[in-house]
Amino acid sequence: MTTDAMDYKEIEITPQSAALGAVISGVNLSKEPNECAMAELKDAFSRYSVIFFRDQDLTPPQQITLAKCWGAINVNRFFKPLDGYPQIAQVIKEASQKENIGGTWHTDHSYDQIPAMGSMLYAREVPAVGGDTLFSSMYLAYEALSEDMKNRLTDLKAWHSSRHAFGYSVTDSEHYEDGRLDNPDQATQDALHPVVITHPLTGRKALYVNADFTVRFDGWTVEQSQPILDLLYAHGARQEFTCRFHWEPDSMAFWDNRATWHYAMNDYPGSRRIMHRITLEGVALN
Ligand code: SIN
Repeated sequence: MTTDAMDYKEIEITPQSAALGAVISGVNLSKEPNECAMAELKDAFSRYSVIFFRDQDLTPPQQITLAKCWGAINVNRFFKPLDGYPQIAQVIKEASQKENIGGTWHTDHSYDQIPAMGSMLYAREVPAVGGDTLFSSMYLAYEALSEDMKNRLTDLKAWHSSRHAFGYSVTDSEHYEDGRLDNPDQATQDALHPVVITHPLTGRKALYVNADFTVRFDGWTVEQSQPILDLLYAHGARQEFTCRFHWEPDSMAFWDNRATWHYAMNDYPGSRRIMHRITLEGVALN
């Protein structure tokens, strides 16, 4: 994170850790931000990689309007949408469920040829305790690698897939009873991306593999790839790269999928958690 913060006029920033993440106050997201506020929000998004808001009272159409200020919406193929709003995917854990969605370090949609730019998650119902989300900076993860490892990874590409997460092999899992669409025909995307990307907004290098969707390095078998992928997954989860966000009803997080991983804590058995997620289209990565 750089320290030469823009002199913000419309928004106030409270960083969440030394690594990434900032709570933003001074904006009411139910109204379209003015030009100055939007420029400041975009700057904060680039600078902090994940921005958080509290006490935002938004209807579904207002969340959709807000999302469109950032770009085109990617309609999710795997999560049940909110009734009447296909643009809003529901991330639900019912009180009776054991598994949660997003309970491993990952980045959304890396299995798409053009992976999602960002995800906007809005808390509708949260447990009395627990249910936080952790974020990790893939800029810092890359920068902390040894020069030798950076050199080894520089020209590598990796395959990412949705098949093992949403395809036929998991259609009988608990996810298909609560929260996810039974849509395995849509889980056919395999995509090849550089292991180290140059971020399209900031120009910084970031590590771009994740434990949920990356399956192997291009030209390598799964068995050959896994030990190095496991090493990178352990490295990327180091605490000094992370921040933690505690949700309250009406909190919102908006994260950059090209610069972060996230991890939804599953530490609230017997409680319900309902989130509304909108995912924004990105650009090809290189
Ligand atoms: C997700 O992985 O997109 C959901 C994260 C969360 O529910 O905290």
